[in-house]
Formats: sequence, C-alpha cells, structure tokens
Amino acid sequence: MIAPPMTVENCLSSFLGVIALDVAIGSGLIAVLASGGRAKPPPAPLVAILREIRVMRSDDFALTDRFALLWQTHAKQLQARVGFLRLAAADVARHAEDLFEDADTFMEKSSTFRYFDYDSAMQDDPAARAHTQRWVNYVAALTDAEAPGLLDQVSLPDTGLVLEVGGNAGAFARHLLGRHPGISYAILDLPGVCALGRADPENAHFGDRLRFLPGDMRRMNWRIEAGGAPDVILFKSVLHDWPAEQAAELLARAARYVGRSGRIVILERGAYTSANLHELPFSSTANLVFSPFYRDPDTYAEALRAAWPSAQVTVHPVLLDMGWFVTTATERAA
Ligand SMILES: C[S@@+](CC[C@H](N)C(=O)[O-])C[C@H]1O[C@@H](n2cnc3c(N)ncnc32)[C@H](O)[C@@H]1O
Repeated sequence: MIAPPMTVENCLSSFLGVIALDVAIGSGLIAVLASGGRAKPPPAPLVAILREIRVMRSDDFALTDRFALLWQTHAKQLQARVGFLRLAAADVARHAEDLFEDADTFMEKSSTFRYFDYDSAMQDDPAARAHTQRWVNYVAALTDAEAPGLLDQVSLPDTGLVLEVGGNAGAFARHLLGRHPGISYAILDLPGVCALGRADPENAHFGDRLRFLPGDMRRMNWRIEAGGAPDVILFKSVLHDWPAEQAAELLARAARYVGRSGRIVILERGAYTSANLHELPFSSTANLVFSPFYRDPDTYAEALRAAWPSAQVTVHPVLLDMGWFVTTATERAA
C-alpha cells in the first residue's frame, strides 16, 4: 500500500520531534539534505529522533522521500510552525501556573508574546521588518492549515468588496480570492504588516483585486479607506486579541461601515474548554498559550446584536484543531 503524503501536522505531534526539526532546519541540515548535499554526520541523538519521526531514512543520512516532498512544497510553513511551537512549549513548561491563573503575568514572562510584538509592525526599518516577518510567517502558516476547513463556512456574494480587518499579509485573502473570482479585497492592518503584504510575490498576481490599507483599525474610517461600503467585513482570529469592550467597539464600527445589504463574518476559536477540545496533540500547545483569550461565540453575537439591532445573527460551529465558530450578521429579510 502506498503511504499517504506526509503533512505539516504529521511533523508536529511530539515534543522531541518538533525540537529536533527546529534544530535541523535552523542549522541548515534539512536544506543541505534536501538539495542532495552531504552534511557532516549530525549528532547521533538528533539523527535518532529525525529517523523516528520519519524525516530521515533509517539506512542513510538522507531525507525520506515523503519528507523531501513535504519540504519541497511546505518548507516555509514547517519552519514557522516548529519554531513557534518550540517557543510556546518552553513558555508553557516554565510558566504554566501563570498561564492558568494570571494571564497578564504570563504575557509579561513569556517569549510567545514578545514574538507577537505588534509595536514592531508600527515601524518599517529593516530590524522591525525582519521581526514582523517572523510572526507574519507563523500566522500565514497557521492560516494555510485552517483555511481548507473554514472556506466552506464563509458565504460571499459573487461580486463585491470584502474588507478583512486584521487580515495580515494576505494569507486568508489568497484562499478566498482564488475561490471567488468576482470579488475584490482590501486588508486593513498595521503599516509594517501591509508593507510585507505588498512586497509578497504570492500576492502579486491578484493585482488590484487585493489592496492593503495600513493604519490602526481603532481609528480609521474603514469606508473611506476601502473606497466604499464593503459588502463583507471579515474578522479572522482578530477579536480575541482585544478586551471584550474593545472587541465590541470594533464590531460597532463594522456595523457602521458595512454596506446596507452586507454582512459581517467572524471566525474564531471557541473558549478553551472541554466542549471545544476533541483531542490534545502536542501541537495544541500553540493554542494553549492563547487560551485565556478565546471566548464563547455568544460574546460576539451579543455585541453584533447590540450594534446592529435589525440584523440576523447566526453561529455555526466548525471542528478544526479545536472547536471554532463562524458568527455571521446579515440584515433580516423584510
Ligand atoms: C492574531 S493576528 C490574526 C491575523 C490573521 N487574521 C490570521 O487569522 O492569521 C491579528 C492581526 O491584527 C493586526 N492588528 C493588531 N492590532 C492592530 C491595529 N491596531 N490596527 C490594525 N491591525 C492590527 C495584526 O497585525 C495581525 O495581523
């Protein structure tokens, strides 16, 4: 029987496997082996782990065919995911008490939150850009993993303008633009993130269909910036970044700026509770560090109803790495 292709998720299921892969990628070992080069024999324990997780062949200092294929297509995603997971695992191991009991102290102590430093995205000098690129690569890699399970749940008109608030450098936009050839898209995000999005060759072939609007989502007039009332305003994994009151204010802005027959769509993981956790592989450590911030979808649904009283608000559960919810507001049919 032919084994199915290896996936990024297959490589994230064990602590030792993630550490070994991060070391092997960071040292250049994987790149050398992938190019058919001969590396000096790597340390035996590293080789043992890489063989155990089927990255290296058991009979040679070479990559397995399945891993070599995955590396060819997903090197960037793999590098970003193992790098972040290693950081998150170290934070959880050292500061679990704070994580469970006092999110503010956890945020102060953890390297995870230094890594997600939005301040660097306010500037655009080379050091800030390099820092921003690292976490942008991570959220893009995660979005590539999440998108296949979410796209069917996002109902878009055949034509019109989608405004993605906090849409980062375009990862989710690329999936939606590919699927809906009649829509155009604007991303509102911080200046350093928009600069990366504009420079990303993966966005180039969408031309004018994908625009970046740099600024602070709390202050801009989204309608003027987008060049008209958006038909859809989308928030994916953005609102949990904000205290509930500020999240509600962002939704009030969305209700003010969306077109009259438009819709607001929120895609978010649910609260980190048993109801939303079907299994706990090692890779879920990357979600655990954000667990204090995930919410029940009712919080967003209620804020939408308050901001847009005539809207019909629906909530759909989606099971991905954990329970997600797609919350949609549309004008109630007359
Ligand atoms: C958790 S990330 C989610 C990114 C993306 N939507 C995704 O699902 O991967 C939050 C996004 O909000 C952006 N952001 C944070 N504060 C912002 C602000 N004040 N104005 C505009 N964008 C902001 C960040 O740069 C980042 O792209």
